[in-house]
Amino acid sequence: MPMEVLAPTPHNVARAAERLRAGGLVGMPTETVYGLAAAARNEAAVASVFDLKGRPHDHPLIVHLASAAQLLDWGVPLDERAGVLADALWPGPLTLVVPRAKGVPDSVTGGQPTIALRVPSHPVALDLLKAFGGGVAAPSANRFGRLSPTSADHVAAEFGSEDLLVLDGGVCTIGLESTIVDLTGPATRLLRPGAVSREELEAVLGRCVELPPTARPGMPRVPGSHASHYAPGAPTELVTSDDLNKMKGAGLTVLARQEAPPSWGGAWQRLPDDAAAYAAGLYAALRRLDATHPAAIIIERVPERPEWLAVRDRLERASAPRPMAAQPRRSA
Ligand code: TXA
Ligand code: MG
Repeated sequence: MPMEVLAPTPHNVARAAERLRAGGLVGMPTETVYGLAAAARNEAAVASVFDLKGRPHDHPLIVHLASAAQLLDWGVPLDERAGVLADALWPGPLTLVVPRAKGVPDSVTGGQPTIALRVPSHPVALDLLKAFGGGVAAPSANRFGRLSPTSADHVAAEFGSEDLLVLDGGVCTIGLESTIVDLTGPATRLLRPGAVSREELEAVLGRCVELPPTARPGMPRVPGSHASHYAPGAPTELVTSDDLNKMKGAGLTVLARQEAPPSWGGAWQRLPDDAAAYAAGLYAALRRLDATHPAAIIIERVPERPEWLAVRDRLERASAPRPMAAQPRRSA
């Protein structure tokens, strides 16, 4: 059966929950990005998520829950931190990594002794999770190494010919993947920056949140992984605002916070000079630019301030050297 994109009516949400129960896959809107959802305790369904994405099987998934009350079905928190963060920030764009509970299948955690858990705040995601009742494993609904989808159209562009039911929950309001916090040891570590900031986490916990000692934020802790993630097909290059001002334009494709100069000769997309609004539009803008098959996308660097941390992280990843599986397309 080809992909179906459906309005999130109660009838269609019930159909999507039924699809999950039957071991099928659902495109699930969340406030961050769209997920490719499967019943987390169904090993065959989870395996088909990895296959469809082309994702290595040792790269763990986030399990989405309808409420924090389900946390103990999946995880065994070391101490009160998980409960405190869940109380303050769930539902929301925050993923907690805790030691996993007995009986959690290896397929979902990539064999790791830990598990990533999140209660999303998008009303359609919550409706689906409640209708399904259990945990839903959902990576971002894109091919491995590519940009995360922030609309149902993006999911269709990634997986249009696949047997997938997509609930259309509109454009994701946050637009970047969730903040991931590691609570598996005595230190609290930020693994991936997102809309919930390090400062907010520190304020809620009343303690310091560390950046990981070696890897950059968000690097999955699995062998053979690469910094490049969240990448458009075209190679991207980060330039300072000053360097951008010196460029002439002919044939160049640019993503910037400033207006295009009057005589600019190339393509130019502008995003707001506000971190949250920029984040919400980033992946859609990169997809639009990428669709013109540019030789490269030149991106104006964003400020060094804390509120830009998540955007900076994704821009640096998009511009990092790429693994073989995600080599830039030829622009033919
Ligand atoms: O906003 C989001 O988090 C979206 C929506 C759909 O919820 N999901 C998402 O999933 O971004 P995915 O699979 O694209 O990214 C999951 C990240 C990966 O970097 C993975 O390495 C990390 O979560 N992760 C999962 N389980 C982990 C674990 N046990 N320990 C450390 N990192 C883990
Ligand atoms: Mg992803």
